[in-house]
Amino acid sequence: MNTLKTFEEHLSDFFEKFDDLSGRYDHTINNCSELEILIDDYSKFITNESNKEAWEQLEREESSDFFNQLVVGLRKKSALCVAIMEKYRAFKLQNGNVEMTDYFQNIESCIEKEFGSFRVTSKSKVLLVGSGSFPMTPLLIAKRTGAEVVGVDIDDEAINLGRNVVERLGAGLNIRLEKTLVENLDYIKDVTHIIFSSTVESKYDILDQLHILTNENVVVAMRYGDQLKSLFNYPSREVDGQKWRQVEKILRPDHVFDIALYKKA
Ligand SMILES: C[S@@+](CC[C@H](N)C(=O)[O-])C[C@H]1O[C@@H](n2cnc3c(N)ncnc32)[C@H](O)[C@@H]1O
Repeated sequence: MNTLKTFEEHLSDFFEKFDDLSGRYDHTINNCSELEILIDDYSKFITNESNKEAWEQLEREESSDFFNQLVVGLRKKSALCVAIMEKYRAFKLQNGNVEMTDYFQNIESCIEKEFGSFRVTSKSKVLLVGSGSFPMTPLLIAKRTGAEVVGVDIDDEAINLGRNVVERLGAGLNIRLEKTLVENLDYIKDVTHIIFSSTVESKYDILDQLHILTNENVVVAMRYGDQLKSLFNYPSREVDGQKWRQVEKILRPDHVFDIALYKKA
């Protein structure tokens, strides 16, 4: 029982820190180191086996309204802080400083396996929903495969910073970033692979909407996190079986998110 209390206390503590640091974001790199340390600690917490047990035990018990609200709040605040951390990384690159935190290493080490057996080739056209301020997924995919990559985001600052990063790190690569909704992309029918960022809250609604807009062979990689990982990711959801079918699940215990692959039903 004591362990559980400690687990909840840890969560409250993380929530307060995320809330404080996101509130202090001022479009400069002030507070950058504090946030990096917090996100690295949180990533370790999310992938820690003993916390997994504490989570499972809590799930078996009747969870309180307080706990449920804490989980929802943590998911939202940590997503916001990850987006801010990408902004810090983009600002630092502008100042000539490129370094890797554990969080970014964790994300980047897995991009190659994103589509499982549905490989991206130089002829592919990849769409990333939620490209962020430091678009490492488009950069790595375009660099390693030669594919055309389009990233969309709803945040103006993320698009501007992201373009700057691509200009600096992706010279000659076929990458475009746009602030637009997927239904307004006129080449959406040509897209062969789609990736959803895990921290896009409406990702399953957008997937549903994409069914009619996309071609028959499209492959979708949905990043998600269930159970303990749902503290840092929007979780998986049932899809409309008339529209999409799950064809592969890529579970990665040491990573902050997992991946579900969908094709048209
Ligand atoms: C910072 S990135 C995080 C990338 C991280 N590697 C992941 O997989 O979640 C997430 C981005 O998604 C964007 N975003 C959130 N909701 C969105 C939506 N409905 N459509 C497009 N982008 C969205 C945010 O503005 C943010 O820049």
